[in-house]
Amino acid sequence: MCDSTRTLKMRLILLINLVLCLWMTEMVSCQRSRIRRELTPGLHTRGIRDAGGSYCQRHDACCPGRNDACTVPYLDTICYCDLFCNRTVSDCCPDFWQHCLGIPPPNIIAKACVRNGQHFPKGATYRDHCNLCTCNLGNWHCEENPCLINKKTINAVNRGNYGWTAGNYSQFWGLTLDQGIQYRLGTNRPSSTILNMNELHVNMKNEVLPVYFNAAEKWPGLIHEPLDQGNCAGSWAFSTAAVASDRISIQSMGHMTPALSPQNLLSCDIRNQHGCRGGRLDGAWWYLRRRGVVTDNCYPIGSMTSDEHHSPCMMHSRSAGRGKRQATSHCPNPHSFSNEIYQSTPAYRLASSEKEIMKELYENGPVQAIMEVHEDFFMYKHGIYRHTPVMAYEPERYRRHGTHSVKITGWGEERGADGHMRKYWLAANSWGTDWGERGYFRIARGENECEIEAFVVGVWGRVDMEDLARKK
Ligand SMILES: *[C@@H]1O[C@H](CO)[C@@H](O)[C@H](O)[C@H]1NC(C)=O
Ligand SMILES: *[C@@H]1O[C@H](CO)[C@@H](O)[C@H](O)[C@H]1NC(C)=O
Repeated sequence: MCDSTRTLKMRLILLINLVLCLWMTEMVSCQRSRIRRELTPGLHTRGIRDAGGSYCQRHDACCPGRNDACTVPYLDTICYCDLFCNRTVSDCCPDFWQHCLGIPPPNIIAKACVRNGQHFPKGATYRDHCNLCTCNLGNWHCEENPCLINKKTINAVNRGNYGWTAGNYSQFWGLTLDQGIQYRLGTNRPSSTILNMNELHVNMKNEVLPVYFNAAEKWPGLIHEPLDQGNCAGSWAFSTAAVASDRISIQSMGHMTPALSPQNLLSCDIRNQHGCRGGRLDGAWWYLRRRGVVTDNCYPIGSMTSDEHHSPCMMHSRSAGRGKRQATSHCPNPHSFSNEIYQSTPAYRLASSEKEIMKELYENGPVQAIMEVHEDFFMYKHGIYRHTPVMAYEPERYRRHGTHSVKITGWGEERGADGHMRKYWLAANSWGTDWGERGYFRIARGENECEIEAFVVGVWGRVDMEDLARKK
């Protein structure tokens, strides 16, 4: 009984309110009913830095108690100067406390940061691409690291006539440029003794080389797919395994087509080498000759990153006479039973000569090359790469480079937009097959672009007649 009377009474009040409201539509007080008001999001908690505006003061609008009409315009809405606003706090004018109450505004509100309509306390963080933003005194303060994927570079490269196209990569998104240099390369520059190593000269008399060459077409099925080093700065191991795999396959005429294990090198070739923190090519080739490695299937890539130390070596071998090695451990991959060890002969350095590199590639297969990787290379999508000057006027920290190593597998030439012929090398990177031209890239040839012709290495696999007879 009692309940229904109350309900009726309330309905009546609501009805009267409604009628009143309809009647006084011009009046702000009704449009902003109490209920609406309590649901409105906070005004100055929206992250708007209020420059100490004097709203209540300017309009002389302090109202004792509750007064819905006690408002003043605030940006594109209104704020309140009546005492009721103090209950919800959020819709008081910024100078309400100071002017009407004579006290400083409540702290929590003033220090909250807003993002996507949500409020965050002091110390809250979020990531903006490669930079961390932290809430402090009502404002987000973001780091200002140059990011590996840089919109400015992408646009500048694509607008200019550089012969190649730049784009975004999700696997690089969120990394700083320094992290890219630190985690995605990983070949130490050869020491001066190695750099002064005698070059092997080939007789180039009357040599006629084709205009276009691709090892994968000359040796179908024997050239392995580009690898993915992930965030492991171990290109020294990846490029060595890649070149050795192809060379052994070519040399054995397809009797053996091992995809050699970069992880075997990363984890076991540890004398003066630093796994996913970088290593030397001469050390890698020494290991491949003297110790040898198993296949990638036998010793797969672990989820090792540059931040971790070496994962312990899980493959061991002993001499089997005449320099050959035999595994004494099972494959780390429990589903692989073939722990065959593959070895190479000593690697040899080619002359820094376009033609001699081409001849070696043409006759014996892919070669390994060191390369100086600059900030724009990470964003390469397709075309003939050349380091661009688009960051030339940016601060030093936007222009970074590091030493990398790759596998060259061919060459060609292409007419550019300006009508000029552009000669290129075709090379496999180790950033996965969704980078560049299906894991490959093309780079200007004959001008030592990014030092790609400065230190080029070839090798022969150690393939005996008995191996050929035994396998396949
Ligand atoms: C208004 O709010 C402030 C901060 O929350 C509080 O210190 C003050 O006592 C309140 N004043 C009234 C009159 O409610
Ligand atoms: C790049 O890719 C990432 C991840 O796919 C995406 O979140 C980001 O918005 C992209 N950035 C640009 C500039 O296109």
